[in-house]
Amino acid sequence: MIPCFKLHNGVEVPAIGLGTYRIPNDEEAVRCVRDAVAAGYRSIDTAMFYHNEEWLGKGVRECGVPREEMYVTTKLWNDSHGYEPALKAFAASLRRLGLTYVDEYLIHWPGFDVEAFVQTWKAFETLYKDGLVRVIGVSNFMDWQLKVLMERCEIKPMVNQIETHPLFQPAQAIRFCRENGIQVEAWRPIAHGKLDRGALLDAAKKYGKTPAQITMRWHYQNGCRAIPKTTHKERMAENVDIFDFSLTEREMERITNLNTYVRTGESPDEFFLTVKRGSV
Ligand SMILES: NC(=O)c1ccc[n+]([C@@H]2O[C@H](COP(=O)([O-])OP(=O)(O)OC[C@H]3O[C@@H](n4cnc5c(N)ncnc54)[C@H](OP(=O)(O)O)[C@@H]3O)[C@@H](O)[C@H]2O)c1
Repeated sequence: MIPCFKLHNGVEVPAIGLGTYRIPNDEEAVRCVRDAVAAGYRSIDTAMFYHNEEWLGKGVRECGVPREEMYVTTKLWNDSHGYEPALKAFAASLRRLGLTYVDEYLIHWPGFDVEAFVQTWKAFETLYKDGLVRVIGVSNFMDWQLKVLMERCEIKPMVNQIETHPLFQPAQAIRFCRENGIQVEAWRPIAHGKLDRGALLDAAKKYGKTPAQITMRWHYQNGCRAIPKTTHKERMAENVDIFDFSLTEREMERITNLNTYVRTGESPDEFFLTVKRGSV
């Protein structure tokens, strides 16, 4: 069983979920959910932008595990900021997923229009109060954007999903989340498997694990939920087989020291600008 972290509203969320970006919207998505469930996963992370909600939803509905034991995340895309657009976007995601509620709904990117993301968040609060979402959160938010929500809105985000892994750790955003009881979720948690670093290789050798498993264990011991993506069932099993050993403080520190301060993914600011120019 994959252990859970408890969010500030009391909901227990699996420490590891399956990432699904680039999993195709067809029978392959159903197969991935089935294999993930067999490997012990109960959490699936998708987004409107991944264009695979339909078939992943079908996978969740048909995986054989009761709906209430599954944890489904989806995200609002950048073109749907604002109160009414956000409600509409959520309804459309729910319809595509074929579910009656979503476990976790995230604002995918904040953008620069503070008023727009505040209004989006107010819609999220409505969805939460209406019982259509169990956990509302954000993604790619810096600490100042979280502060805005906390000052202007009623409900504090329960999670912030951000790029973080040994090679890139946005320390300020992570510290702010920890200090404020906001669960950090790591996207690109195993840096696309590019983990050829001494601190990871040494620990892998010592514990008879792979660098990906050492990285997943490092996230777990940091209290960080992680959502590695793979379509291979062997890797699904590998990425959750991390609960039979512990890294020492020194090993944790060596891995933390791998931070290059360079993102592998888009920067929240630049990405949103790119999207606004219509290139996605
Ligand atoms: N909120 C956001 O803005 C945001 C942005 C990006 C991603 N995400 C979410 O985070 C998830 C994970 O991020 P990601 O997909 O970018 O990166 P990732 O999970 O760090 O890496 C996925 C890549 O690593 C490979 N892989 C998986 N397990 C492996 C292992 N044990 N050893 C070696 N290679 C392995 C996969 O290949 P195979 O599939 O071929 O096994 C895939 O190419 C996404 O799928 C998505 O759900 C969110």
